[in-house]
Amino acid sequence: MKLVIIANRIPLTIRGTDPLIFVRSPGGLVSGIDAFIKKANISDWVWIGWVGSRVKKRDLEKIRSTLIQESNCIPIYIPEKLLDKFYNGFSNKTLWPLFHNMPDLATYKQDEWQSYQEVNKLFFRALIDNVEVDKDTYIWIHDYHLMLLPSMVREFYPDAKIGFFLHIPFPPPETFAQLPWKRETLEGLLGADVIGFHTYEYTTNFLRSLSRVLGIEHSMGELVYNSRIIKADTFPMGIDVDKFNVKDDEIEEQVLSIKQVLHYKKIIFSVDRLDYTKGIYNRLLAYEDLLKRREDFRNNVVLILNIVPSREGVEHYQRMKRQIEEKIAEINGYFGSVEWVPILYHYKSLPVNELIAHYRACDVILITPIKDGMNLVAKEFVASRQDLKGVLILSEFAGAAKELGEALIVNPNSIEELSKAIEAALDMPEDEQSFRLKAMQERLRRYDILRWGNDFISSVKEISSKREILK
Ligand code: UDP
Ligand code: G6P
Repeated sequence: MKLVIIANRIPLTIRGTDPLIFVRSPGGLVSGIDAFIKKANISDWVWIGWVGSRVKKRDLEKIRSTLIQESNCIPIYIPEKLLDKFYNGFSNKTLWPLFHNMPDLATYKQDEWQSYQEVNKLFFRALIDNVEVDKDTYIWIHDYHLMLLPSMVREFYPDAKIGFFLHIPFPPPETFAQLPWKRETLEGLLGADVIGFHTYEYTTNFLRSLSRVLGIEHSMGELVYNSRIIKADTFPMGIDVDKFNVKDDEIEEQVLSIKQVLHYKKIIFSVDRLDYTKGIYNRLLAYEDLLKRREDFRNNVVLILNIVPSREGVEHYQRMKRQIEEKIAEINGYFGSVEWVPILYHYKSLPVNELIAHYRACDVILITPIKDGMNLVAKEFVASRQDLKGVLILSEFAGAAKELGEALIVNPNSIEELSKAIEAALDMPEDEQSFRLKAMQERLRRYDILRWGNDFISSVKEISSKREILK
């Protein structure tokens, strides 16, 4: 089997060109696929995508040869103006808010839609120029940036095995219907053999949109389009449990050092990309409410708020950052003292070992998105707690909540509910913490990243083999 991954990002992002410096790309898509390739021990694979930052055309050849030789990645060059309209524009100002069911934030611009089409074509060209596709090749296209690509590939390679996986929610049909280019988007996706989603809700939303927009009906997720069988199905992405459940002295030293520096106060940890979907502002309001209500927590609790920079070219993200930072300053200014800073704020991405150390050092982790496709951080926290201590507070609107029912499940729109949940978590007896974590850990082991990827690929194999039946 040869596996061709096509996603907007490759797993490495360029930080400098003289000399060439790469860092790990942010986000759950990269974490998941990277982990799958390693766990499944796939030897014949290649990953096509953008290098994650603006680069000069003259540096491209050097970047290209390094990435191909050292990392199996084929980088795509997207000219700057096109990139802006495609990435900051259509992908992150139209599709991202709409698919997270926040239609009021979505903008609809014809020129950005055109750029989206053009960039999808660039990815298509990169595939046909660089990869020899044969009957053992699986072409696996990922996420909302590339929804037109499956049909482009299908037209060129009618017999190819093509899968598409959406890493973000698929919205209810009445929200999706607001997209002026809804027909084209659905037709683009239907080039795949299998279209995968994180939860049953997203799969159903997609199938209902197919019926409403294109009049296509399905039976158990299977449908016929252009004389081909296509399947829409649910594959909740898991994690590499062992990577987070690891025994490692260096991590343990870091855990101890975090606890010592904070004088063994109770630690609440919060970590996400800076994104309005993540509900960070409400989290701060809830913490403020808690400090107002429970004076005994003042001086005894610390919130470590780690925010990973994201999409800094999009205005809404810039506004969000200002709002969050003002609120942090307000809370620290009002409640803080020489001995105690209520919120320790960091604006950076933590390397994985440091992240695990934080997962292990905290007493409570707060994951309260307004809407989130899956949220791997929640699963990683659970897997990392070998000591079976710590409490996960998780939004009911994260895909992960479907599998992590033993968390304290909250509605992030209610500040009061959030604040009460933090209180309950800080007061939770240790045997209850263990009981909850154990149940969740067992579930994460059963459906891990390897199962996720293998199930998806098996499904593509099965559905593409049914094609013969209709011929
Ligand atoms: N992550 C990281 N360093 C950080 C914060 C997050 O490496 O400081 C990783 C984390 O391990 C996880 C991914 O980034 O695998 C975030 O994925 P998630 O699904 O939670 O959210 P997304 O960013 O994709 O919306
Ligand atoms: C989410 C998306 C990914 C994306 C990641 C980081 O996980 O589903 O496709 O890569 O966020 O966002 P960015 O815009 O930095 O790639």
